[in-house]
Amino acid sequence: MSSSDNFKVKLLKNLGLKRTLLVTGGAGFIGANFVHYWLANNIEDRVVVLDALTYAGNIENLNLVKDNVNFEFVHGNICDTALIEQLLKQHTVDTIVHFAAESHVDRSITGPDAFIETNIIGTYSLLKASKKIWLDEPKTQGKPPIPHRFHHVSTDEVYGTLGPNDPPFSEATAYSPNSPYSASKAASDHLVRAYHHTYGLAVTTSNCSNNYGPYHFPEKLIPLIIANILHDKPLPVYGDGQQIRDWLYVEDHARGIELVIKKGQIGENYNIGGNNEWANIDIVKLICSRMNQAFQHNEQLAQQYPLAQKAFAQKSEELITYVIDRPGHDRRYAIDATKTNNELGYEPVESFESGITKTLDWYLSRSDWWLPLMAKP
Ligand SMILES: NC(=O)c1ccc[n+]([C@@H]2O[C@H](COP(=O)([O-])OP(=O)(O)OC[C@H]3O[C@@H](n4cnc5c(N)ncnc54)[C@H](O)[C@@H]3O)[C@@H](O)[C@H]2O)c1
Repeated sequence: MSSSDNFKVKLLKNLGLKRTLLVTGGAGFIGANFVHYWLANNIEDRVVVLDALTYAGNIENLNLVKDNVNFEFVHGNICDTALIEQLLKQHTVDTIVHFAAESHVDRSITGPDAFIETNIIGTYSLLKASKKIWLDEPKTQGKPPIPHRFHHVSTDEVYGTLGPNDPPFSEATAYSPNSPYSASKAASDHLVRAYHHTYGLAVTTSNCSNNYGPYHFPEKLIPLIIANILHDKPLPVYGDGQQIRDWLYVEDHARGIELVIKKGQIGENYNIGGNNEWANIDIVKLICSRMNQAFQHNEQLAQQYPLAQKAFAQKSEELITYVIDRPGHDRRYAIDATKTNNELGYEPVESFESGITKTLDWYLSRSDWWLPLMAKP
């Protein structure tokens, strides 16, 4: 950037008209959808993605924006505090949106180390760098803090599990995480909170329910079921399949985060959810029936997916296979998003019907994206 460009950026920033976001984990499922959403809806803003490209990160998730002049990708780790400090300065970042995490509960049970490292130490590293660049350095120079926001993306899993008749989780629900994944996310939420209360860092946190949509890695329930039907493979369902999750279309999550960043109160947590509870087995059956219909109405699918014999025969449900339950498997999550709805005017745009249709269409037309990922360890 030339010095006159730099001057313009600072002027617009001072007028509150332009932001520079550092999006961690922007090559993952929700991060990539968020980057697409943000650049399409905030065309004055710049977005720098920092991503370590673990097995879950995929640079191709950002192909849609790779030629956008307001977009830049940096390959690096959030645990590298010196790198974060450098990026905050070099790009005059004023907003961090922190998605980077190890996110798969099953993997946290078999190998918790990476979850402790990225979700806890990595978040601490980001907080430390933010405090230094936005608060401490200006102070030593006799200047006011740099206007900033640290937005932390968290999950409803930090609240633990609900019984069938319990009220949904609100922001006042006590944390009670049950898996190494949710415990590491809870720890990171607490660190973010502490950096606000202790040092005055301008933070917000959002706790969201299960997301679905494009670019979802095919180890997670919805894309796994789609991919397995298309390969005529068993559809694994844990235990009795009656675990209940509250599903939200991923772009509606991005919209909620945008509202929290623009209108949320500093230091506050906001629940984001779709008011859309489904038992896992019912989601699996729904996808089976929608895939059967897709094969019935579109003859080309049988040529495109010759292995999908059960879908072709309208019998995808026959692939359902009950497997031994995940240890410590939470029974039910449900989000009470009243605070976010009332304070920020948040409402999801997609119904489950429209969101699942978009998702199935996307996976049916994008085997070039998900097929290579099926081979990843
Ligand atoms: N998926 C959901 O349903 C859901 C729901 C609520 C909240 N969340 C939260 O949203 C965030 C994103 O979830 P997701 O499903 O997109 O995850 P994901 O696993 O698809 O993506 C995570 C991204 O972070 C990157 N990453 C991992 N470790 C890193 C490190 N040390 N440094 C830099 N980058 C690193 C990965 O390469 C990947 O691109 C997570 O914080 C998760 O806890 C997810």
